[in-house]
Amino acid sequence: MDKIISLAKRRGFIFQGSEIYGGFAGTYDFGPLGVGLRRNVVDAWTHAMNYEHDNIVQIDSSIFTSGKVWEASGHVSGFSDPLVICNECGAKHRADHLLELVGAKADEKMNEQEINVIFDSYRTNILCPICGKKNFGKVFSKNLLATSSLGMFDEKDEQVYLRGETAQGIYINYKNVLDSGFQKVPFGIAQVGKAFRNEISPRQFLFRKREFEQMEMEYFVRPKDAETSFDAWRNERFSYYERLGITSSKLRLKQHENLVFYAKDAWDIQYEYPFGWNELEGIHNRGDYDLTQHQKFSGADLSYYDDETKERFIPHIIETSAGVDRTILMLLSEAYYEDEMNGEKRTILRFTKNMAPIKAAVFPLLKNKPELVNKAREVYRAVKKEIPQIMWDDNGNIGKRYRRQDEIGTPSCVTIDFDTLSDDTVTMRDRDSGKQMRVKIEELTTVLSK
Ligand code: GAP
Repeated sequence: MDKIISLAKRRGFIFQGSEIYGGFAGTYDFGPLGVGLRRNVVDAWTHAMNYEHDNIVQIDSSIFTSGKVWEASGHVSGFSDPLVICNECGAKHRADHLLELVGAKADEKMNEQEINVIFDSYRTNILCPICGKKNFGKVFSKNLLATSSLGMFDEKDEQVYLRGETAQGIYINYKNVLDSGFQKVPFGIAQVGKAFRNEISPRQFLFRKREFEQMEMEYFVRPKDAETSFDAWRNERFSYYERLGITSSKLRLKQHENLVFYAKDAWDIQYEYPFGWNELEGIHNRGDYDLTQHQKFSGADLSYYDDETKERFIPHIIETSAGVDRTILMLLSEAYYEDEMNGEKRTILRFTKNMAPIKAAVFPLLKNKPELVNKAREVYRAVKKEIPQIMWDDNGNIGKRYRRQDEIGTPSCVTIDFDTLSDDTVTMRDRDSGKQMRVKIEELTTVLSK
């Protein structure tokens, strides 16, 4: 994991948030290559949701939302993690994580009393990961919603929350989407956007951040179809990751043992990260809980009249909820390799062509030969018109350029040499095998796009 974090920083994928001020826990900033990778992740998901389905539309709702949204959703009263503080050094930890370390079963959905009973029975074994002592206070629930203040700060100002999930923005806009006249149940609303949580112990790089990005899709179905739809979405989302090229043996489905009170069923798609198996995406059968709550709190009629069955009902919701950051962490973990080529050690990111932020690098063999540089610029500009994500690289010798491009996962390097000037062919070098072949310039974009 440390090697991945170091490469991500060195090559401009991901930086610690507010780094020059000593860092800001739970935040990471995306650099030039990170933005390219993130865009590929979001595009692939958008394609799988919006373009492969005729009845899924996308929205973009506000990050600032009325406090009532989060009261209705249950987040104000029930969206919390179990916090425990070390009496010796003051470090704050998630009690369920400490219990996991000593082999005890607990999770964040247990109530305060339940988790205190378990914590007390293991108390004498639990060490503080920071100071190594065994002296903790009581476990208590810490709400995860991040708050903010807007307005002129008079007493009547409403408490403002930064959204804890993008899903609520979908529920509160479901009626607007329906009323715009293009959708009938079953249909889905998808959204990609930032979410914020006051995580007690943000950790494991991109895995648990305080500001992160979600890709959520809420599928509105007739109540009788909910279970079938749930099974179909669970299978579809699992196979989506296989289609992305993720190693099958590193993916698994896991059903939740403790369901939150409104959930009818919930499964995680888990990935085996460098630190072990953990959640990548959640698939939830949420019943009619969300729309019923928003109907009750807002007074708006959120029922649906079914033209076909002549029935009125609150649609049930099947949710697929994936994280952009966890997908990126998975892609980096999958792609990172160290090997040897021509007797030299190298670090390589074996991204698939779809996910590679840079699809090809173009360079002149020598940067002090104007005839090579001019020809290389010409080839670069022609390819860029068809494939925008290409890079010009003329720093250092050719070996150094190859190593640098391998490290950022560029699938192909294209060199313009003296032969190019006479026969209009270039050398194309494959990242994984190091094999080189001559390609005609006129065929280059086609070959690179394969
Ligand atoms: N609307 C349902 C929901 O938000 P969740 O399991 O809390 O469910 C869904 O989150 C997904 O969002 C997770 O599977 C994960 O990919 C991502 N996610 C949640 N919390 C995160 C965090 N603190 N940092 C990074 N990603 C997170």
